[in-house]
Amino acid sequence: MLGNFSYSNPTKLYFGEDSLRFLDEELPKYGKNVMLTYGGGSIKKNGIYDQVVQILKENGKTIFEDPGVMPNPTVQKLYEGCRIAKENQVDLILAVGGGSTIDYAKAVSVSAYCDEDPWEKYYLRFEDVDNRIIPVGAVLTMVGTGSEMNGGAVITNPDTKLKIGHVFGENVFPKFAILNPAFTYTIPQYQMTAGFFDIMSHILEQYFSGEDDNTSDYISEGLLRSLIHSTRIAVKNPRDYEARSNIMWTATWALNTLIAQGKATDWMVHMLGQAVGAHTNATHGMTLSAVSMAYYRYIMKDGLEKFKRYAVNVWNVNPVGKTDEQIAAEGLDAMEAYMQSIGVVMHLKELGVTEEMIPGLVESTLVMKGGYRVLEKEEIAEIFRRSL
Ligand code: NZQ
Ligand code: ZN
Repeated sequence: MLGNFSYSNPTKLYFGEDSLRFLDEELPKYGKNVMLTYGGGSIKKNGIYDQVVQILKENGKTIFEDPGVMPNPTVQKLYEGCRIAKENQVDLILAVGGGSTIDYAKAVSVSAYCDEDPWEKYYLRFEDVDNRIIPVGAVLTMVGTGSEMNGGAVITNPDTKLKIGHVFGENVFPKFAILNPAFTYTIPQYQMTAGFFDIMSHILEQYFSGEDDNTSDYISEGLLRSLIHSTRIAVKNPRDYEARSNIMWTATWALNTLIAQGKATDWMVHMLGQAVGAHTNATHGMTLSAVSMAYYRYIMKDGLEKFKRYAVNVWNVNPVGKTDEQIAAEGLDAMEAYMQSIGVVMHLKELGVTEEMIPGLVESTLVMKGGYRVLEKEEIAEIFRRSL
């Protein structure tokens, strides 16, 4: 393992079917004013809202509601959340929802007391936080992003067609997160499978970098094998608790900084996907699935050793009598077949992308340098064309 690093993760997790009760242990640590942040109303339909509100009331909290966090939360919504948080002097932001709600809560937590425009400070200039941070707690209802145990906060600016993630430090990670796999049963199939692919993509973004023998890669292979096994079960039977619980746990470990230790990490699939998201507002995981095969086939030769290892260790490709290239390509074929079998989007056209949009997408794509190939603009355009 190369490189020097420090590692700690401050988020306390409560996992399992009875985990919501642990709010009773966490809430007394914070003041009276709680901002209850949630999305478009799924938590009201499935009863999670009522359960959370009851526990908040039992703990004597004053609730300030902040509903309506949309998938791919916008900068306009961020400004609104900052106003609610500041005006009511909230002591805790309790985010009940998926990655969008939790990301947004983190963005509000660092922005409410920020004297400058937070979009410019955090998302255009990528500066650190130097003002008061409101603590965030999370009740996770949608699995995929890992937002429950990391510092990521992705915000979209529809006017400038930019979707940008700021990865904040440990002081912004949720203080605690409640993970009840049964809360995820009501996620619509499309969102569920998008989340499954998001998890896979997070692991691959970290796995496909570096040449050294690194423990993180062995952990990644284990997570991938578990994910593939459980998602195959869950797409057929979404109420399989064992599968859903394994997927939930895998998602958290896929992006809570552990498997990035000692690694350069790539993140180019996410940059391509985020550009698509900024232009179409499509579901995050589907933007990743639509570009992944074209991207990985494009860079396969640059990271041949790792793609070969991926084929054998994750997809059980038999290497006997084959060239390295054949083995690596068979691994990618197996990945493609798996993606088709769980029903994720395989082409950008399905998300409303047209050939004419490609120059704009290229302009919105940030180029990362940690993977096996640093892409030129023309190569990015080519990958988008191959993804259509
Ligand atoms: O808004 P509601 O009504 O709650 O409905 C949501 C939403 O429509 C619904 N949903 C969530 N839980 C449900 C449910 N419906 C029924 N039952 C439930 N239990 O699902 C829809 C999608 O929710 P959303 O939070 O948008 O999904 P996800 O968790 O995939 O989050 C996506 C956002 O996270 C960002 C993405 O870019 C995107 O903005 N990401 C955050 C990352 C991070 N923090 O590290 C990394 C990721 O790569 C990603 O970029
Ligand atoms: Zn993602």
